[in-house]
Amino acid sequence: MDRVHRVLVVDDEEPIRKGLSRMASGLGHDVDVAPSAEEALQRALTLTPDLIITDLHMPGRSGLELIEDLKDRGIESTVIVLTAHGSIDSAIEATRKGVYDYLVKPIEPERMQTVIVKALDHAAMKQEVQHLRRELQRQGRFQQLVGESGGMQELYRLIDQVAPSNASVLITGESGTGKEVVARTIHNLSPRRGGRFVAINCAAIPENLLESEIFGHEKGAFTGATASRSGCFEHAHEGTLFLDEIGDMPAGLQTKLLRVLEDGRVRRVGGSREIPVDVRVLAATNVDIEDRLESGQLREDLYFRLNVFTLALPPLRDRTQDIPILAQHFLQSFGEENGKRIIGISAEAMALMTRYDWPGNVRELRNVMQRAAILCDQDEVLPHHLPTSVRPTVRRELGTRDSLAVKVGTPLEEVEKAVILETLEACSGNKTKAAATLGITTKTLYAKLKRYGKLQATEVLR
Ligand SMILES: Nc1ncnc2c1ncn2[C@@H]1O[C@H](COP(=O)(O)OP(=O)(O)OP(=O)(O)O)[C@@H](O)[C@H]1O
Ligand SMILES: [Mg+2]
Repeated sequence: MDRVHRVLVVDDEEPIRKGLSRMASGLGHDVDVAPSAEEALQRALTLTPDLIITDLHMPGRSGLELIEDLKDRGIESTVIVLTAHGSIDSAIEATRKGVYDYLVKPIEPERMQTVIVKALDHAAMKQEVQHLRRELQRQGRFQQLVGESGGMQELYRLIDQVAPSNASVLITGESGTGKEVVARTIHNLSPRRGGRFVAINCAAIPENLLESEIFGHEKGAFTGATASRSGCFEHAHEGTLFLDEIGDMPAGLQTKLLRVLEDGRVRRVGGSREIPVDVRVLAATNVDIEDRLESGQLREDLYFRLNVFTLALPPLRDRTQDIPILAQHFLQSFGEENGKRIIGISAEAMALMTRYDWPGNVRELRNVMQRAAILCDQDEVLPHHLPTSVRPTVRRELGTRDSLAVKVGTPLEEVEKAVILETLEACSGNKTKAAATLGITTKTLYAKLKRYGKLQATEVLR
């Protein structure tokens, strides 16, 4: 990391202060010095240094007391403790107080330098995590929804608008884009939050059971119906019913569903009673709903009834800005689950992840970070902790700016995509120039970019 950091050196001996500050300035950082713990605290309050290197034994307050004072005032600088009088006890105490490293004087300059560099890396990662955590808290309203891209901001705005109403909402988006999380969020932000959120997947339940699952049945309605049972609608009374994969609901049930939505009453399978239900219905689909409508698989009147409001969730590859924040979010929770303290993701690993196109969207990213948290045995996630799907077989050749290294056996489509995207980049994004360089028409280039999801919504096919 080549950012300039602020370093505070605390020692009662001037030669040591001088030596250390020369070293830290030599590494390109801003250095400040203090001859005592008291003065160091004052300085830290105004400077909030990234790193504090402090002596342990000083006249007045000690280095350990300084650490306490800093904590009391909410200053979370990374700390290295130095001492001439090494003792196991003070080492243990320093570590308990969260000190990054503990060194016994005299210290080899080279070793000191390495420790400073590492401590500052650590400080930078710690700050990044804190920043992300604050960001998450800010978005606490949207609970499990993470992301700050334009697409997500727009989604938060729409959720805010639609949640308090009673309107049906159709949530569309590719697999793994968060349709179910969005549905739960709408429920939790609605006046129905005190009621149940009931989810049913229309594609996962065999057709003959689905009807009874949704509407319930009376005793003797069919073989095996030994007792009466209420269905999802009754369960969700005064709450929300989430019909997942609505595009897969059999036609007969669609008609029945539409009736319930219109009258607010259900009739169980094999029953004659009309049971009043107060349910808000949210539906989701990851298939192209237009296709289902055209082929008649989805009833148009039901579609209009459900589609009072549509939320179209953008695929992850269209909001690459969210990849780092989502990755950190998952890494942190899986790290905790595995009892590990993985602080960050290396720049290389992050670059691979932002370049990848995530066909499985957020779910895939979540799985990748879960795997990384298990494999990772150091501070940060490195490229080899990522699955091969994320590490492309075509990538820029090391040390060059305009050559690609292709692994033998790479699918041609992947090679083509890499060559096209790299050429476009080499042409500074100029599509006409890139097409000419590649010997294809601009129209072909646009079509390919569209397929890769690399075309802005505002860019039209010329
Ligand atoms: N914006 C997000 N922030 C945090 N986690 C998310 C986000 N979007 C999705 N996830 C997580 O990704 C996983 C998949 O989300 P979800 O099940 O809601 O997707 P889906 O769109 O319903 O997928 P499918 O179409 O396959 O059912 C879940 O673990 C969910 O918590
Ligand atoms: Mg789902």
